[in-house]
Amino acid sequence: MKIASVILAAGQGTRLKSRLPKVLHRLAGQPLVHYALEAARAVTEEPPVLVVGHGAEAVRATLGDQVRYVTQAEQLGTGHAVQQAEAVLKAQSDYVLVTYGDMPLLRGETLRALAETQLQNAGPLTLLTIVSLRLRDFGRVLRDESGSVRGIVENAQATPEQKRIAEVNVGAYCFRAGWLWATLPKLPLSPKGEYYLTDVVGLAVAEGGHVATMALEDEAEVLGVNTRAQLADAEAALRRRVNERWMDFGVTFVDPATAYVEPTVQLGRDTIILPNTHLQGSSIVGEECVLGPNTIIRDTTIGNSCHVECSVLEGAVLADEVTMGPFVHLRPGARLENGVRLGNFGEVKNSTLGPGTHMGHFSYVGDSTIGEHVNIGAGTITCNYDGAKKHRTVIGDNAFIGSDTLLVAPVTIGENARTGAGAVVTKNVPPNSLAVGVPARVIRKFK
Ligand code: UD1
Ligand code: CA
Repeated sequence: MKIASVILAAGQGTRLKSRLPKVLHRLAGQPLVHYALEAARAVTEEPPVLVVGHGAEAVRATLGDQVRYVTQAEQLGTGHAVQQAEAVLKAQSDYVLVTYGDMPLLRGETLRALAETQLQNAGPLTLLTIVSLRLRDFGRVLRDESGSVRGIVENAQATPEQKRIAEVNVGAYCFRAGWLWATLPKLPLSPKGEYYLTDVVGLAVAEGGHVATMALEDEAEVLGVNTRAQLADAEAALRRRVNERWMDFGVTFVDPATAYVEPTVQLGRDTIILPNTHLQGSSIVGEECVLGPNTIIRDTTIGNSCHVECSVLEGAVLADEVTMGPFVHLRPGARLENGVRLGNFGEVKNSTLGPGTHMGHFSYVGDSTIGEHVNIGAGTITCNYDGAKKHRTVIGDNAFIGSDTLLVAPVTIGENARTGAGAVVTKNVPPNSLAVGVPARVIRKFK
């Protein structure tokens, strides 16, 4: 028994007033259509068939080969759009699940239940409905006195009496495949000059087929994105959903409305998220951390019991009990071992700072390997770039770098060595020695 999924995404999205096709507008870091793909994947392992039209090239470039594409050259309606998938799917599946690419909050579980309802239905299709007096631009579900579905009427074509019907068509359907392909060519032209998928319901009833429905409760799931205001509403609804899941799991949000956690991120128990904190991409956070306020954490791995205040972290790795901020910038390849402490205005790129190392104030560390329990004085800078090439700085365990030291790479500071304030270090400093001056020279040995 095979279920195929068809997702409609050929429409222009005129009301967004954008050069970008609707389904590529970003929602919590992903293109809008990503969510419809995810939901479909909860139902079937077959790669979804995406019907593209407006901006088809851009859609293909963004999504690559995770879906099968069919093109609807002219947007002649949702029924016509589904018909385009026939050539790809015919004879290959027993059931076809159809959804729209602009409904990002529809859950995979909902679609699974929809498909299961249809598997029990002797008739040709099941559709998802919801009772709501707010969704007034949705198609209305028409039923007879016995409660059987008779058809769907679009809002634009509904009589004043039909407009009062509370049950509406969500826009997700599961069909018997053979029946669907045989019936789509029979769709009448609507008064708007389109072939509406919703008109297959009337055709099924006319043949005496039973149209089953599955009723949805949660209105948040059916939020459609047609305007920028709805895009913002969807973002807020998705944010709420993600944050509620983490709160249930054991994460504290001081203000969930201002915590921007992308669905791809993982969090640990007893972590506290302060306002205006953005957690993005592949970030993973351990337990008992305090993050924010005013912090961006992107593609970064954070261990347990770390504190990050007012900072920007990108592509970094933090072990446990690391504290930083305010105003630290970690760039890709920054690796901070247990107990590292960074104070204000520090930047670290492509460098490892060993356990217990401190960098309190105004420093840049790039392309460096720094040992444990090193003290990096205020204003220390690794001069890693000579205009043509990047060079490495190596600092041994327990070294003490004096304030305002310039480390002109490639250069190595030995274990337990010290530099004086304002030193410009152009040559290696041996272990257990003190170098001072411009350029720095060794003036003392400790052992
Ligand atoms: C549709 C339903 C309506 C339902 C509502 C729920 C129809 C006729 N009506 O109306 O009953 O209540 O969704 O949101 O289906 N598309 C194509 N090709 C086309 C036309 C549309 O791919 O030729 C795609 C759009 O890109 C979009 C989806 O189909 O993703 C739905 O089209 P849209 O015009 O937004 O339909 P609604 O007016 O919202
Ligand atoms: Ca729509």
